[in-house]
Amino acid sequence: MSNNSRAGFATKFGAVLATAGSAVGLGNVWRFPYMTGHDGGAAFILVYIICVLMLGIPGMISEFIIGRHAGSNAARAYRRLASGKWWMLVGVMGAITSMIILGFYAVIAGWCLQYLYASLMGGISGDAAYVAEYFKEFTTDPLMPAVWTVAFIVLTHLVVVKGVRSGIEKVSNLLMPTLFILLIIIVIASCMLPGAWRGVDFLLNPDFSKMNHNVFLDALGQAFFSLSLGTACLCTYASYFKRSANLSKTACQIALIDMLVAILAGLMIFPAAFSVGINPDSGPSLIFITLPNVFHEAFGSMPVIGYVISILFYMLLALAALTSTISMHEIGTSFLYEELHVSRRTGATIETVICSVIGIMCALSCGASDAFVFFGKSLLDCCDFFTAQILMPLGAFLTSILLGWIVPRRLVHREFTNSGTVSRHVWRIYLFAVRFVCPICIIAVFLHQAGVI
Ligand code: PFF
Repeated sequence: MSNNSRAGFATKFGAVLATAGSAVGLGNVWRFPYMTGHDGGAAFILVYIICVLMLGIPGMISEFIIGRHAGSNAARAYRRLASGKWWMLVGVMGAITSMIILGFYAVIAGWCLQYLYASLMGGISGDAAYVAEYFKEFTTDPLMPAVWTVAFIVLTHLVVVKGVRSGIEKVSNLLMPTLFILLIIIVIASCMLPGAWRGVDFLLNPDFSKMNHNVFLDALGQAFFSLSLGTACLCTYASYFKRSANLSKTACQIALIDMLVAILAGLMIFPAAFSVGINPDSGPSLIFITLPNVFHEAFGSMPVIGYVISILFYMLLALAALTSTISMHEIGTSFLYEELHVSRRTGATIETVICSVIGIMCALSCGASDAFVFFGKSLLDCCDFFTAQILMPLGAFLTSILLGWIVPRRLVHREFTNSGTVSRHVWRIYLFAVRFVCPICIIAVFLHQAGVI
């Protein structure tokens, strides 16, 4: 293993941008808007913010502590901190989880590439039935979705293989500001449409009649997914942080950026949807079936603007997805090359091959082949459910048990406070959250899934 392969992020700013890049992804621009649409707008956002504060930020700090303490891949980091080889399995589970996520996530990222291409070629214009048919025909095709999926994973590979500084950090420094600029342009265009205020109102005015425990569980799942918790992703990135990085501050900065992007994504989608009288509660197909029509109709009198906005929108989705897939890929790559004692290039290639196989099966499961459909659910849906509802919460649960109850308090305190430079109050709040709030809430989620509560 060359020294360069373990070089960390060159600057703190680069570290924050890269980690925020992991958090900001399809979870913000695709999942968050359709969940908000489904769960009652601002009421969902309020619960989501509470989940981020109570579980998200402490969970992030915990993974940061493990990764920065060890300065190695996730499996070795868990083993080192816990001084027990069984804990290494949590890191291994994180690496496997991230491979599964990368596989199915790349399918959806691949759909974005297809829609970007279609937008460039003049857009998917037609009536609602035509747009729905277009989506169905494309996703059930046996070839193109799989091709775009592998293309996306290879694109990710090309960044990761260059290493942390020259690959991940450089690309994040370029993509994250671009992503913000695209987002702001589309938000402005969307909010200037006639009747757009109804969308803004939906997003910012809470309707508490929609509140129930499902909203809480949805918000919790969304917080895990959006902050990339429980996959050892944050732990892997933190292994490249500087020793002087203030972990709690970094976690807050990233949670803030992540939330800002999610809310901006809402401000991009809802005003446009409401302006043409569409209720944005159509679920996962929102951005592929509802939105092409929305852009087409909303900017009907200004077709050039509609054309440009549609291109920028799918470009934004693809860029957001890329900053996240890079982080998922890096978890497996660092694990493989450090544990198998091979070069970074070889580790990255193995990761790419594994994820491509998972990705191709997921792509085919959406209608092209029955071989990957289980109990009436596509492999893509199964992978989404299994990772977001089981593996990620389980990873986060075990991580909080490890830091709250197993590792000597002194050690956690030293990493958290950077040897006493962070206030005692903040430390106490963190300790309470990681020992009690996180494990209890996650157990409640599992009990609910099992139908016990
Ligand atoms: N946080 C990403 C998103 O919101 O799209 C998804 C993600 C990235 C999940 C990295 C897991 C991961 F390891």
